[in-house]
Amino acid sequence: MNIRLKEEHSLRVCKEILQLGRSLDLNQNALRLAEIIALFHDIGRFEQFRTYGTFNDKVSENHATLGLKVLEETNILSRLTKTQRSIACKAIGYHNVRKLPDPADENPDCLLYSKLLRDADKLDIWRVVTTYYAQRHKHRNPALELELPDTPEYSLCFVEDILNNRISNSHNLKTYNDLKLLQLGWIFDINFTRTFHHIQQRQIIEKIITTLPDTEDIRKIQNHLKEYLEKTGNS
Ligand SMILES: [Fe+2]
Repeated sequence: MNIRLKEEHSLRVCKEILQLGRSLDLNQNALRLAEIIALFHDIGRFEQFRTYGTFNDKVSENHATLGLKVLEETNILSRLTKTQRSIACKAIGYHNVRKLPDPADENPDCLLYSKLLRDADKLDIWRVVTTYYAQRHKHRNPALELELPDTPEYSLCFVEDILNNRISNSHNLKTYNDLKLLQLGWIFDINFTRTFHHIQQRQIIEKIITTLPDTEDIRKIQNHLKEYLEKTGNS
């Protein structure tokens, strides 16, 4: 089930990245490279789940780096040009880092594809997790909860990060609620207007918020994110 989940996720990220790329008027070659990057971005997940039985990088290994090893061993990108291969590998390597390098420290094409991938990936992870919350009572999947305890608590550092428009550090995850807050905070790491529109249309914030405890903190977060989305999505 978890292998199929990542297989389907990868295919949907291809669709998301193509839509995003078309909205930016990328040419056919650029779109094809973006699609290849999306298709293989999580290739390390299969090896990871087979070896360790988890998607938690912290207790296994970094799935992006693992994916780069798989790509090298299988030589699957051999028909790309050297430049394309370098862009693909960097974008895949960067897809799960907390922050992309500064524009001064990395080449613009590499950053563009990395941004496309990160937006497309987040859009589909939000789809996966919000669908999961809605039917979790019927079928639990600990892998999607990173095996974190489902207790009413959440860590205040995640609340503070959101209220200060900061992306949280996954090393601080202690409960399943923390993971939901981390996923809400990804909004501060969105690169393209079109992605903001999708977040609004698909009501991502509302769908995640309803699964969190009804406290003053969470209500503050909801208002804060709503305002941020309206302001940023329309600018
Ligand atoms: Fe992914």
